[in-house]
Amino acid sequence: MKQWVMAKHPKGLVKPKDFRLEEVPIPIPGEGEVLVKTLYLGVAPVMLRYMTNETSFERPMGIGDVMIGRGVGMVMESHSPAFKKGDLLQTKLGWREYAIIKDDPYYMTYKMQSKDLNPSFGVGALGMNGFTAVIGMRDICKVKAGDTVLVSGAAGSVGSMAGYVAKALGCRKLVGIAGGKEKCQLLLDKLGYDIALDYKQPGLYEQLDVHFPNGIDVFFDNVGGELLDEVLGRITRRARIAICGRISEYLIPPEEYHRPKNMYRIGLKDAKMEGFFVYDYQEHYPEYELQLATWIREGKLIPLEDIGYGLEAMPEALISLYKGTNGGTRMVKVAD
Ligand SMILES: NC(=O)c1ccc[n+]([C@@H]2O[C@H](COP(=O)([O-])OP(=O)(O)OC[C@H]3O[C@@H](n4cnc5c(N)ncnc54)[C@H](OP(=O)(O)O)[C@@H]3O)[C@@H](O)[C@H]2O)c1
Repeated sequence: MKQWVMAKHPKGLVKPKDFRLEEVPIPIPGEGEVLVKTLYLGVAPVMLRYMTNETSFERPMGIGDVMIGRGVGMVMESHSPAFKKGDLLQTKLGWREYAIIKDDPYYMTYKMQSKDLNPSFGVGALGMNGFTAVIGMRDICKVKAGDTVLVSGAAGSVGSMAGYVAKALGCRKLVGIAGGKEKCQLLLDKLGYDIALDYKQPGLYEQLDVHFPNGIDVFFDNVGGELLDEVLGRITRRARIAICGRISEYLIPPEEYHRPKNMYRIGLKDAKMEGFFVYDYQEHYPEYELQLATWIREGKLIPLEDIGYGLEAMPEALISLYKGTNGGTRMVKVAD
């Protein structure tokens, strides 16, 4: 079977030469272990920080280690009472065609329930990114009918789902920010946004004034930095802000992070701003999956998937996130 290992710690943006493809035998599961066949693998901006050992929640990576990553796989052989053959798992498979996993909290394994829906949804809509959208939009921002809602990174995996969640909850106006004409068109045509703003064009903040004449009730932020600061300057009384990510600052040193000038407005406007991490909400995953699967079956959420084919496509899939060339959930189909 094939697997990708880290050939170098990346410097700046990830590059193809930071990875090496290897051929190794399919592993044999021992006592308490499970052999899983990889069907789909996802990519996430955080993976670059795994490779540079910048996260506190993932084990350090050395040269030659299999690339860390989550995906959806099927149990082929089980020597663990926790799993049975045929189970569909979202887990830390790594970038490889077969993986051995254990019933261990490290793997953060989630057994999928919605077997009538496409297993690829386990990478996006019915996986961590969909769950992230529900936590941020529904549980932190408590979107309700009449709210005006803004999403940054709106055409990405989390952002595309966040928009659908806001609409399903009855928001009045949904505005998304994305990079480039094509992505903005995607927001309007495929992702249910009412207005799409291109941050790569001049005048973004003036556009916010035009489209939110009475202010922003809810902001789901994937980008951080100066944009967050400008939004703070435009919030309504009792506004809610979910800090999901800050991709605009992942590739720059801390001394270059934007220093917000509008933070005082949280107090002035009796607003709420909350960061969150999807893995802290594990006990709620079955309920999130049920809710999202219901919206999918009702046609209220149409997952937008951006699929590459074959394990060989993994490095390019990850690189595309930083180049912004993905639309919706970027993933790779590894096997049927
Ligand atoms: N809190 C949590 O538990 C949690 C869970 C999952 C993900 N996240 C965070 O959510 C965010 C989105 O993750 P995702 O997996 O859905 O990725 P994604 O949005 O599918 O892909 C990343 C997108 O970010 C945009 N981008 C890249 N560089 C940017 C920059 N300098 N400024 C503004 N936008 C930039 C690009 O879109 P454009 O072309 O539109 O710029 C790119 O397509 C990330 O910040 C991630 O860390 C948080």
